[in-house]
Amino acid sequence: MSQIRIALCGIGGYARLYTNYILDRHDERIIPVGAVEPFPDSCPRLQELRDAGIPVYATIEELFAAQKPDLTVIATPIQCHTPQILTALANGSHVLCEKPLCADAKDIEILREASRKAGKFVFIGYQWSYSSAILGIKKDILSGRFGRCLEMKSIVLWPRDLAYYRRGSGWAGKILLADGTPVYDSIANNATAHYLHNMLFLLGTDGSAALPETIRGELLRANAIENFDTCKVDMTMPDGTGVHFMASHAVEENMNPTFHFRFEKADVYYSQNDTPLSRSVMPEDYREYGQIAAVTADGERIVYGNPFANDLNKLETAIGAAVRGDTREFPCGIEAASAHTRVITWLQQNETVRNFAETKIRRTDAKVYVPGLGEALLDCFRHPERTLAEWTVE
Ligand SMILES: NC(=O)c1ccc[n+]([C@@H]2O[C@H](COP(=O)([O-])OP(=O)(O)OC[C@H]3O[C@@H](n4cnc5c(N)ncnc54)[C@H](O)[C@@H]3O)[C@@H](O)[C@H]2O)c1
Repeated sequence: MSQIRIALCGIGGYARLYTNYILDRHDERIIPVGAVEPFPDSCPRLQELRDAGIPVYATIEELFAAQKPDLTVIATPIQCHTPQILTALANGSHVLCEKPLCADAKDIEILREASRKAGKFVFIGYQWSYSSAILGIKKDILSGRFGRCLEMKSIVLWPRDLAYYRRGSGWAGKILLADGTPVYDSIANNATAHYLHNMLFLLGTDGSAALPETIRGELLRANAIENFDTCKVDMTMPDGTGVHFMASHAVEENMNPTFHFRFEKADVYYSQNDTPLSRSVMPEDYREYGQIAAVTADGERIVYGNPFANDLNKLETAIGAAVRGDTREFPCGIEAASAHTRVITWLQQNETVRNFAETKIRRTDAKVYVPGLGEALLDCFRHPERTLAEWTVE
């Protein structure tokens, strides 16, 4: 097959990236056959889709009643992922679904079985996992070049205003819908999910991610939402490697994704931007801001590149695989994405979401934040044994 039919499920919100690809890229391998969107006006390029002769349906069922896409790209709220992936597979379509794989881990086996039965792939849209930078470092980890991994830690400080929690169709910051359907929308399962997933992905074998043996999570909330906007997650892998993740939307200061992975024979660093905050946790001789770099015990420096280089590598990978009829879910399919979903499900079912102490919170008309929290999380990054316990005490 040299050309495939493609459909978009969700064209508002983040899906604009996919809409832009369809309208601007003129990829000769694809024939767009339709889109699904219950609120079409949420798509800024709706008229252009219509002008291009791409019908917009209100439901995925209506799409499949009228069209036969070879690849369906799903970029809808988390709770829609499982039913929409299942519908696409049942109708003989490959799938690229946005992260996370699904809300609750109970769906993983159902999705795996449906994909196997349909003989179609399901890719999950963690764009870092498709980047040559991450795949390059994973190859070197798997080859044993750095020895055993001793510790991984990642931090992201991404302030978000009140409008962030009002976006979409009422699922932002929700644990469950009114009918009990799991959503599990949180900082760790949405905006910064990539960086938690990334550590599990790098510790897994080719096409898979590793599952921790123990998990402990401090889940905190400053905003008026059900779920948490701040977290510190500490995991231990079966071989004893400690994996630590710190993230918050309730901070004043911005710090883009930053990590330090310690191996027996190398240290691996990444910080997206060169700022005073990043410098406060990166070693002085890390000069490759924006790129992943390893420094080996014998002084060799290996630069792997920018994991953000191409956010649409996942779509290009999915189109290429569908054109070739290749159903291997590599690099990031159900198997690789499921470890993150299992960790999130465990956190939601075993840890309590706690409120920040009221005295620590500042509220303006535009946002809610906790002064000093960014520095506290940076301190946890430097010393992962520290906790956020004092922030919840009145
Ligand atoms: N990969 C990334 O970097 C990245 C970034 C942001 C969001 N996302 C993911 O994209 C997905 C959507 O997030 P968002 O922030 O764009 O959400 P959103 O609510 O802003 O947009 C979702 C879109 O899907 C539409 N929609 C809702 N129900 C639908 C249904 N049943 N069928 C079809 N369309 C439906 C909505 O109307 C809206 O246009 C989530 O899974 C999120 O985690 C990924």
